[in-house]
Amino acid sequence: MSYCAIILAAGKGHRYSKNIPKQYTLFDNELIINYSLKIFSELKTIKKIILVIKKIHFIKFKDQVYKNKKITIIEGGRERKDSVFLALSKLKTKNYKKVLIHDAARPFLKKKLINKIIKFSKNNDAVIPYLPNTDTIVFQNRILDRKKVLSIQTPQCFSYRKIFSLHKEYKNNRFNDESSLFFLKNFKVKKILGDYNNTKITLKNDLSNKSELSYGIGYDIHKLEKKYKLYLGGIHIPYSMGTVGHSDGDPVIHALIDSLLGSKKFGDIGTLFPNNKKFKNKRSTFFLKKVINLMEEQNVKINNIDINIIAQKPNLKKYKKIISKNLAKICNISEKKISVKGKTTDRLGNVGKNKAIACEVITSVTSN
Ligand code: CTP
Ligand code: MG
Repeated sequence: MSYCAIILAAGKGHRYSKNIPKQYTLFDNELIINYSLKIFSELKTIKKIILVIKKIHFIKFKDQVYKNKKITIIEGGRERKDSVFLALSKLKTKNYKKVLIHDAARPFLKKKLINKIIKFSKNNDAVIPYLPNTDTIVFQNRILDRKKVLSIQTPQCFSYRKIFSLHKEYKNNRFNDESSLFFLKNFKVKKILGDYNNTKITLKNDLSNKSELSYGIGYDIHKLEKKYKLYLGGIHIPYSMGTVGHSDGDPVIHALIDSLLGSKKFGDIGTLFPNNKKFKNKRSTFFLKKVINLMEEQNVKINNIDINIIAQKPNLKKYKKIISKNLAKICNISEKKISVKGKTTDRLGNVGKNKAIACEVITSVTSN
C-alpha cells in the first residue's frame, strides 16, 4: 500500500514564544521540525512527504532544515485545517492510498509508534493514537469518568480518499484535527495507545524539563603596543599601551564570543565576523550584541560565564566588577552569572613580559 505523510509546520507557535515559531527552535542542537522530517524520511513505507510551512518564517531557517528527496515544501493556510487541506489538494493527482498527518510540534515521535499506526491502517480508514487521562476532569462542575476522556496525538493515519472528501465537506467548519471529522460523522476510528513521550510543544515551558546543558570554551590573545587603546570586556582601561587587532582587539569579548558560539556549535568569531573591511575598527561590543541576539533567537539561555583575564600589567583589580557589570548588561543576564578573574603569569612568556594580554572563557548554556 502506498503511504505519504503531511508534516504541519505552518503555525506561529504564539503560545510558546513570541520570537520564533516553536518548530524552528533548537532541542539538543537540532531544529524541532527536523525530528519529524528525519523520522518520516527514513521510513521505507513513506513514499512522499509534504512539508507545510509559512515562507516568512521558513526562509530564515531554510539552510538548517533537514533535506530529503521525498520532501515537497508548500505554503500553509490560516488555520491548521487549512494547511492540511492545501497539503491534501497537493497530493490529489498522486494516487496515494493512505496519508499520515503529523504536527511538526511533536519532535519526540518514535518509529515504533508510526509502524504500529501503519499496521492498523491496513484494515482501518482512520487510526489515531490516544493517551488515557490521568487527571480528574471537570466539565461544567461535573466530574467526568476520566477513563472515557482521551487525549489524542498525531500522527493520525487515514484513507486518503475519505479524509480529503471529509475535508471538502467540512471546509467551512472549525475542527481541531482530522479525527474530529471521523467522530462527527460517526465513522469508525481505530484508537491505539499512543506514546507518553510523544508530547506536543505548546506552552512556554513545554521543553524546559527536557532542556539540555552544554558548554563552550573560548581563548584569545592580543599584542600590546604603544599608541593603541586598551579595551577589556568592552571597558576602556587607561594604560600606556593598548591591544592591536582588526577590531578594537578586546581579547575578553573575543574569547567570550567564541565560548558562546562553541556552546551551541554556532561556528566561531572569525567565520561570523571575518577580517574584512566591513568589520575593520569595529567595537567588539558590536559583535557580542549580534551573538547575543542569535542566542536569544534560538532560545539559548546563559547559565554562567567564567572569565580569566591573563595580563601582567595593568593591575585589573579595580576593573573586574565594572567589566562583569558591562558584560552582564550586554548579555542580558544578571551580574551574578558572570565571574571575572585576573591573573598574571609570574613574568613568564609574552604575557609575563607585558607584550600581550590573553583571556580564556568558559560558558554554560541551556537550550530547548
Ligand atoms: N499548523 C499549521 N498551520 C497553521 C496552524 C498550525 O501547519 N495555520 C501546525 C503547527 O505548526 C503545529 C501543528 O499545526 O505543528 C499543531 O498546531 P499548534 O500546536 O496549535 O501550533 P501553532 O498554531 O503553531 O501554535 P499556537 O496555536 O500557539 O500559535
Ligand atoms: Mg494553533
